[in-house]
Amino acid sequence: MSQHLYDQDEFFQYYIKLERQIKGLAGAPEWPQLKAMLPDLNGLSVLDLGCGFGWFSRFARENGAASVRAIDLSEKMLDKARSMTNDDKIEYERVDLEELKLTENQYDVVFSSLTFHYLANFPALTNEINKGLKSSGRLVFSIEHPIFTAPSKPGFVVDEETGRKFWPLDDYQTEGLRITNWLAPGVKKQHRTVGSYINILLNSGFRLTDFVEWRPSKDELIRYPSRESEVVRPTFLLMAATKD
Ligand SMILES: C[S@@+](CC[C@H](N)C(=O)[O-])C[C@H]1O[C@@H](n2cnc3c(N)ncnc32)[C@H](O)[C@@H]1O
Repeated sequence: MSQHLYDQDEFFQYYIKLERQIKGLAGAPEWPQLKAMLPDLNGLSVLDLGCGFGWFSRFARENGAASVRAIDLSEKMLDKARSMTNDDKIEYERVDLEELKLTENQYDVVFSSLTFHYLANFPALTNEINKGLKSSGRLVFSIEHPIFTAPSKPGFVVDEETGRKFWPLDDYQTEGLRITNWLAPGVKKQHRTVGSYINILLNSGFRLTDFVEWRPSKDELIRYPSRESEVVRPTFLLMAATKD
């Protein structure tokens, strides 16, 4: 059963203060590379899965998308998204992605940012997305990187002698539920290996076109030294795939 995490008051109060929720896409360091995976959105029909505050949905319309259907499980996220949107071509809807059913050949682009690692039945969703995409339609998404989701106790360990930071990678090959403390205790996520993500997409009839383990550029490291931790281990995995 899906966890209604984003509707919990304590979690939500912390979440709305994150830089990426205040600044939107400009506050998401991985956004330029995810954006580069998108086709020209002009005139396209777009589906945004786990839309949150609707930052991407509005971007899509501002960049010419004909219509956007934006789905999320959380009423709080959807309320905030609606309050920030003045556009009748964006339709916000409360749906659990574990139960999503799509009509055939409806969308040119399916987008999702940092949501799929919450889903237990990812193959059912990718089958549905493949069905809902038009021929040659594109799926573009980001997830928490499997190296980030794998550990039973996520968190850096510092070597006392050298001061070097390590990411304790354990249980990588054991897929399934992880319970972590992120903004609030007891956050449930689903860990899958990189191989599983790729095979699930291939088995659903996708051709993988882009695969980026996000890391900051040299310039970004100078401007944002705290992003050095991304060089030790990646937080984000970005992928794009085309319906064959
Ligand atoms: C980390 S937030 C990302 C929000 C937005 N895509 C962004 O990048 O700003 C994850 C979103 O996924 C939604 N979500 C989690 N599980 C879901 C599910 N089973 N069905 C639909 N949405 C879900 C949450 O409510 C939340 O809005």
